[in-house]
Amino acid sequence: MSEERLRRVRDRVRPFPDFPEPGVLFRDISPLLKDPVAFRTLIDLLEDHVRASFPKIDFIAGLDSRGFLIGPPLAQRLGIGFVPVRKKGKLPGPTESISYSLEYGKAELEIQSDAVEPGQKVVIVDDLLATGGTMCAACELLKRLKAEILECLVIIELKALKGSEKLNSIPFYSLLQYD
Ligand code: PRP
Ligand code: ADE
Ligand code: MG
Repeated sequence: MSEERLRRVRDRVRPFPDFPEPGVLFRDISPLLKDPVAFRTLIDLLEDHVRASFPKIDFIAGLDSRGFLIGPPLAQRLGIGFVPVRKKGKLPGPTESISYSLEYGKAELEIQSDAVEPGQKVVIVDDLLATGGTMCAACELLKRLKAEILECLVIIELKALKGSEKLNSIPFYSLLQYD
């Protein structure tokens, strides 16, 4: 049953060789977003996983920009709020920021300093984990705010890049894995 639902999601992830640069096999989730049945199935699967794993969560934090496609619908399903972790220069007021590198470049992420209270329980979501640079940076920002990170959650994990090892002891979950 769950296998069938996972297959429905997997069938809507499209590989593009050599994007955005030579040597990168880009996993494109656009077909997943375009298919309402597959997208609903995706949110169903994530909701089931999170409900089964954590009795209480305060917020879903999502990573700019593809994490914004999944985080808010998942937070709505769970009846909780969403906190954006944005690329540099987009958030008003006091922020925490951090530079990081990812599979094909470098960037800087920010969170508003009052986004969560110390001790609040957060699940961080993104579409994909490659080297883990982006997710690690987001964890660091939430740690600075003294949030309790329950889990880092992604749709797609690129196993060969060993990004989950970078997360050390922070729990990690991926729906789909690719070598
Ligand atoms: C992509 C993807 C993840 C990140 C994963 O984001 O959405 O956030 O790369 O790579 P890593 O594990 O090596 O850090 P990207 O910065 O390309 O931008 P986008 O989400 O705005 O499309
Ligand atoms: N982000 C980092 N690496 C990626 C990949 N191979 N496909 C899609 N998004 C990515
Ligand atoms: Mg991203």
